Amino acid sequence: MRLNHLSLTNFRNYVRLELSLPDRLTVIQGANGQGKTNLLEAIHLLATGRSPRATAERELINWLALEGPLPYARLAGDIGEGRTAEKLELVLELAANGGANGPTVRKQVRINGAPRRGIDLVGHLRVVLFLPEDISLVAGAPAERRRYLDIALCQISTTYCRALSEYNRALAQRNALLRRLRDEGGDPGQLNFWDAQLAEHGSTLLHRRNMAVHALDRIAAERHRGLTAGAERLHLGYLPNPDPAAQALPSPRQVDAARRSRLAEGRPTYQAATRESIQEGFLNQLRALRAREIAAGTCLLGPHRDDMAFTVDGYDLRAFGSRGQQRTAALALKLAELDLMREETGESPLLLLDDVMSELDAVRRRTVLDALAAADQAIVTTTDWSDFGEAVLAQARTLRVEHGSLKEDGRG
Ligand SMILES: Nc1ncnc2c1ncn2[C@@H]1O[C@H](COP(=O)(O)OP(=O)(O)O)[C@@H](O)[C@H]1O
Ligand SMILES: [Mg+2]
Repeated sequence: MRLNHLSLTNFRNYVRLELSLPDRLTVIQGANGQGKTNLLEAIHLLATGRSPRATAERELINWLALEGPLPYARLAGDIGEGRTAEKLELVLELAANGGANGPTVRKQVRINGAPRRGIDLVGHLRVVLFLPEDISLVAGAPAERRRYLDIALCQISTTYCRALSEYNRALAQRNALLRRLRDEGGDPGQLNFWDAQLAEHGSTLLHRRNMAVHALDRIAAERHRGLTAGAERLHLGYLPNPDPAAQALPSPRQVDAARRSRLAEGRPTYQAATRESIQEGFLNQLRALRAREIAAGTCLLGPHRDDMAFTVDGYDLRAFGSRGQQRTAALALKLAELDLMREETGESPLLLLDDVMSELDAVRRRTVLDALAAADQAIVTTTDWSDFGEAVLAQARTLRVEHGSLKEDGRG
């Protein structure tokens, strides 16, 4: 599905933007702080319902608008053609009276003019975004990798997206109950219902993440061979929770050792497991862990504790990789995501690259340019036109961004 037109009102430094986008490639040049990342952020938000940046949602609303009486930001996109054409709309409104942490932001979604839930926005316009800070996918905390998997998988599968929202709901309820049982006592049998909910929705997440990481591993390893001229072997490993290979109550050290040896061998974590068998194992481990969870007053088991490991030739890139190696692995992952989405949905996603060329050497640049050439539609930002050859620019629409407004550059 391609993005034909984007409208922004009071989104970050875009007070008003009307932008028509062609097929193929758009290159946007601008100095630092002009609005390159903001624009790609807006498209990502409209496609996934989430900002790729870890900022408070009120930051998304234009500062001047925040001073006005009814602060809001509006994002709208026209996607698809003919009978598949759709209009996506997201409005962020500052709620007049928020919680203890100040005013909150209310999100309203409309599709073709009709009000819909936030979750319904995802999967209409699929995007793959690559930011310079994506190196933190390899080097950062596990939560970033889970967020990454969730955003990619939600775009691919509405089943996954629904399971994720049900899982999070069950997790919050179960945590509240565990806290109550710890602090006030009561019948632990009350947990049975939430155990079943957690295992049912959690097993969908575990099963899909497992398949996705194996597919990403296969494709990323191939991409990585190209990026490193065959010098290094990248391996992506899924570290699910519960770990099916662990005994019910292993010590953390045992789990670590078991995971590391499996990773080094490159063996899949769940070998051909069905969702049902994962669900059963999950439920069994929850029962065995019950007393410990009540003592802790919180949920100790489940995919909200999953992780993903990147190894090169058997060693962990997160701990031992150079920044260059981590960046290359992140790039291989993003390129693999592009292929995975194409394989799973039969459509090429919109590729968004934010100022990544300047940090890459010639081989990596070539690979990125090839990916751009293969994409049905791509939007790329840069500070410097010379990151691209004239041949690439001649085929592209070229725009310049200054203080949140876009101008034709007259190159294309
Ligand atoms: N809510 C907001 N309202 C107005 N301006 C904003 C808001 N949030 C960020 N900005 C401005 O946006 C600019 C950064 O835009 P960004 O897209 O990150 O720049 P770059 O072109 O370097 O990628 C900064 O000048 C910042 O002051
Ligand atoms: Mg930027």
